[in-house]
Amino acid sequence: MWKRWIIGGNQGLKRLAIGQVHKVRGYSTKRDDFPTLEGHPAAQTHAEEAATSQRRVQQHATATTTTTTQAQPLTKEFQIYRWNPDLPNQKPFLQSFFVDLSTCGPMVLDALQKIKAEDDSSLSYRRSCREGICGSCSMNIDGLNTVACLKPIDSDITKPTTITPLPHMFVIKDLVVDLTNFYNQYKSIEPWLKTKKGAEDGREHRQSPKDRKKLDGLYECILCACCTAACPAYWWNPEKYLGPAALINAYRWISDTRDDYTKERLQAITDDDMKLYSCRIIKNCTAACPKSLDPASAIDKMKMMDRFSNYDENK
Ligand code: SF4
Ligand code: SF4
Ligand code: FES
Repeated sequence: MWKRWIIGGNQGLKRLAIGQVHKVRGYSTKRDDFPTLEGHPAAQTHAEEAATSQRRVQQHATATTTTTTQAQPLTKEFQIYRWNPDLPNQKPFLQSFFVDLSTCGPMVLDALQKIKAEDDSSLSYRRSCREGICGSCSMNIDGLNTVACLKPIDSDITKPTTITPLPHMFVIKDLVVDLTNFYNQYKSIEPWLKTKKGAEDGREHRQSPKDRKKLDGLYECILCACCTAACPAYWWNPEKYLGPAALINAYRWISDTRDDYTKERLQAITDDDMKLYSCRIIKNCTAACPKSLDPASAIDKMKMMDRFSNYDENK
């Protein structure tokens, strides 16, 4: 339990706060257990929020249904950031849409899909997998960067849900931001296996289960940019600082026992002080990651490796 709190950081506090709010409002406070999400505090929080939210929708349906009439709609307001490059003189604004939660899927992406299909087909956002794999649907929901397909709708209809683009990114249209710099920085860390000699069996570079385990907590990055867009150091120096997403991926390849270029990889991210050392370990990145990864810790480990030449070139 305590271990999970430490790993979960503010997610655990958030869960406690949500529980208290639900108690005050008289909602069910049953604690859901999702054993398969053990060690993944962000997913655990999302699952609990989704279960609470769906219970509220069902309670509403039961309370408003009689034998002769249908359930009354449960209408929730969504305030969505709008900006159209074809209307450059019109300033960005928040547009309200109203969605009946009893006919909508449980996630914020479901609400966006419904709004786009039924209210305004010009609403722009990215999405693809709708299950937290592609990283496309990252945006800021009620002040937190996350992916919309994993973020349950808060079915408390007394307050709107506000959806804005990832912060400190140039907006292309509505919720779509320009990730050119982000992807160039990712590309700069050369995110592929680099070896000095061919595979022993002439086919593939094999790895023991123990060595493969070293990549857990790193390889799961979906490049959603939630961490980078939450990082104050990146806000100030987006051209020079590589940002937490590129850096956790740099560490992913530095940690790979099959890779022969550890020293060169470290040199490449420290040849300019700003690329790695702009990080001040504020940990906004770790708090924002919807996959419960810890870019701040990866960055810290690379600083230690660089300062103390604390790495094994032969791994
Ligand atoms: S720990 Fe470093 S990378 Fe993460 S938010 Fe803070 S400054 Fe940015
Ligand atoms: S570390 Fe997490 S928040 Fe950052 S890009 Fe990867 S999955 Fe997204
Ligand atoms: S649509 Fe792929 S992560 Fe959300």
